[in-house]
Amino acid sequence: MSHIEASHVYKVFGKREQEVVKRLEAGADRKDLTQLGTAAVIDASFSVEPGEIFVVMGLSGSGKSTLIRTINGLWKPTTGSIKIMGSDIAKMDARTLRATRRDKISMVFQHFALLPHRTVRENAAYGLEMQKVPKAERMERADTWLDTVGLGGWGDKYPHQLSGGMRQRVGLARALAAETDILLMDEAFSALDPLIRREMQEQLIELQETLSKTIVFITHDLNEAMFLGDRIAVMRDGRIVQIGTSEEILTEPANDYVAQFVQDVDRTRVLTAGSVMERPNAVVQSNVGPRVALHTMQEQKVAALLVTDRHRKLLGLVRDRQVVRAAREGQKSITPLIETKDVLRVNENDPLSSLFAPASSSIVPLAVTDDKERLIGVIPRVALLQTMASIGPDTGEIPVIDDSGELHAGEKVNGDHGAGQAQASPQDLAAEAVPQEDLGADESLTGPAPGLEDDAASDATATERKEDGL
Ligand SMILES: Nc1ncnc2c1ncn2[C@@H]1O[C@H](COP(=O)(O)OP(=O)(O)OP(=O)(O)O)[C@@H](O)[C@H]1O
Ligand SMILES: [Mg+2]
Repeated sequence: MSHIEASHVYKVFGKREQEVVKRLEAGADRKDLTQLGTAAVIDASFSVEPGEIFVVMGLSGSGKSTLIRTINGLWKPTTGSIKIMGSDIAKMDARTLRATRRDKISMVFQHFALLPHRTVRENAAYGLEMQKVPKAERMERADTWLDTVGLGGWGDKYPHQLSGGMRQRVGLARALAAETDILLMDEAFSALDPLIRREMQEQLIELQETLSKTIVFITHDLNEAMFLGDRIAVMRDGRIVQIGTSEEILTEPANDYVAQFVQDVDRTRVLTAGSVMERPNAVVQSNVGPRVALHTMQEQKVAALLVTDRHRKLLGLVRDRQVVRAAREGQKSITPLIETKDVLRVNENDPLSSLFAPASSSIVPLAVTDDKERLIGVIPRVALLQTMASIGPDTGEIPVIDDSGELHAGEKVNGDHGAGQAQASPQDLAAEAVPQEDLGADESLTGPAPGLEDDAASDATATERKEDGL
């Protein structure tokens, strides 16, 4: 039995819902019916099998969130049906609906609404509290799930003491702790920094190997969809225009829209600097002395370090010889040693195809910066080569970058190894409204307090940044 089965689901907002459905069925265009109502989901039919990751992908406003809300019973379809493990969710009485949502479905949002005055452990145990699991047991189970998502030992902290990525992990732990078969994730990773986002994607895949949840994962990011989805449903203007594996969507796009959406996937143009960059570990802040810089060099086994200011803005690099001399001469700061000439910066959104030329002329890793010139990653030349090799074509040849920056042998990259994600999504930062009924209790909710996060980031030492995934 499918865990989720949607059949001809329409969801219209507005006074004349039924009228809108009738007209749509008769072939009217959604755009011509706006006076009558907004057709957010139009004639959606699909099923999600146990243990499957079903990704719903589409641009903003295409109806993804509305669709997921009909799955967990927050919205009743205007017409059509959604069956959860065989039972029509729209036909359930209030009690059965509540029980279904408590015992069968968990949800993870983009901005996970953690309860600020509760510890991480209590937050993770929240679903279990709703399920009326006795306190000692739920705390123990919460700890287990916190361990699972890599937050062992953080149970006694409060949400504001955590980074954005960690808070999102608490959200995931909370959803997993409820031990429901179905997990609904609405842009769950979209607000995270690219590296953390990729880590979360990898972790989800890893967890899925043992947990085998039935997951509906919403994203408007193609790379993420390709990386996570067993199957992908592409939505446009309320309609599902294609459902298929990433391979199918790439090779047999249902129409021009999908074709356009994925047209570059089989090229290096879709993978971006952000998607292959590594953590910049060989970095120091400009206010440190030469001895600290030397220590970092020894630790990282490198002959040069990138240098940033305390706001992570990239200033340049320092080399071992100069640093050793400065240390001998008893200089206090490495600032006078900073060179800018050999530092090659690329933007996180730059496609891989544009990186070969700079990479070929540089022994130092390429420095990846965001739109505010902050250092967010590095790409060693070998990593670029490796990426090209792993997404390489059937020939199995490892591509070579020659001095002109041309790529050889691996040019016809195809494959769907869109690991990770290039850029933080331009999603609306307004916190996802969590339905009160989902949270019960009268406690107020907090989003991930972006202000706090910024402060933390700018004051962070190199080590703290490392923990943060940067
Ligand atoms: N409660 C509502 N009342 C009226 N219209 C709504 C409501 N919720 C959504 N809509 C409309 O339905 C359409 C689909 O919205 P939805 O939020 O499902 O899109 P989405 O794909 O999740 O977008 P995003 O990527 O921006 O989250 C939009 O036109 C939106 O304005
Ligand atoms: Mg949405």
